[in-house]
Amino acid sequence: GLVDKGGHSHYMAKEIHEQPEVIAHTLAYYIDPAKPAVRERDVKLAKAFAEATSLTVSACGTAFYAGMIGKYWFEKLARLPVEIDVASELRYRDPVYPKGGMALFISQSGETADTLAALRDAKAHGQTTIAVVNVPESSIAREADIVLPTFAGPEIGVASTKAFTCQLAALAPLAIAAGKARGFVDEAAEKKLCAALLEAPRHIVEFLKQEPKLRQIAQGVAKARDVLYLGRGANYPLALEGALKLKEISYIHAEGYAAGEMKHGPIALIDENVPVIVIAPHDALYEKTVSNMQEVMARGGKVLLISDKTGLDAAGAQVWKAVEVPAADPFITPLLYAVPVQLLAYYAAVAKGTDVDQPRNLAKSVTVE
Ligand code: G6P
Repeated sequence: GLVDKGGHSHYMAKEIHEQPEVIAHTLAYYIDPAKPAVRERDVKLAKAFAEATSLTVSACGTAFYAGMIGKYWFEKLARLPVEIDVASELRYRDPVYPKGGMALFISQSGETADTLAALRDAKAHGQTTIAVVNVPESSIAREADIVLPTFAGPEIGVASTKAFTCQLAALAPLAIAAGKARGFVDEAAEKKLCAALLEAPRHIVEFLKQEPKLRQIAQGVAKARDVLYLGRGANYPLALEGALKLKEISYIHAEGYAAGEMKHGPIALIDENVPVIVIAPHDALYEKTVSNMQEVMARGGKVLLISDKTGLDAAGAQVWKAVEVPAADPFITPLLYAVPVQLLAYYAAVAKGTDVDQPRNLAKSVTVE
């Protein structure tokens, strides 16, 4: 084919490893590193954000989880009310589109039938439509009012990896730009947020040195029948994405949950056979997530804690496994913590001997309903 595996056993492994480079490429398009500040490429976009009454976000699959992380960013930085739904629901829900609303659609392929239909519906309801797409000549890119490209390059593995982190690398600067246009992000804040984002590729390079450790931990995960992923805040969608990734390629049943919601159901599943993967950088929500983690351990659950050095030290030694991610600004942690989540799914699938790049029943691009 046009794209080879570059010495990796699977496209998915190659695509995971490409992330520092393609994220840097995507960030460079949206951020001027000399300042650092968001590039003002599109006057139309800044004006639309300044006047927007709401933002509706929609997508399918992994792109939907990128959108969900975006929701936390847009609300926090731009104080913009965000409505989010999967495209297959949004398109038939008869949603209330406010006058002066914006609508954001995210798609790797730019051809997902439900996402395209939801975009058309939003447009028909007078929304200013934005598309974050990886394929610039796609239908979704053609039909959106404003197109924001990602630079992941061709993604061959059915399970999305680099396209997802590049979507985040486009959405984060977009949220900063929105915050700026709406008067909630001043120059100093913009500088700090942009500088933090530009650090992401370097942190991922650093983290990838731990790949052998992730491979070893994944052997244990591969034996499980059920796996639970927990996170809070912008790392809650990452818990959902982690569970999706594991299901897609290893066929292990997995669920992602908001850590605080665990006591309302999934805690009933906990025993020594259910690995619980806790995504908890040492941020403002760390203590809350750790207390949920302790509830898991009190019931004999085996916890895999993914955190930074401070977070791991504070949690103590009782966890089943610990994975250390470089310490970073809480704004960028979803970009970094995506990588251990991908590697765990990848190596669990490799351990189970599944067809990693072409999992059963799944298609890379779903152009029919
Ligand atoms: C399929 C793929 C997923 C992808 C989703 C949305 O289900 O298997 O990896 O996240 O479609 O695709 P899109 O091209 O719109 O991002």
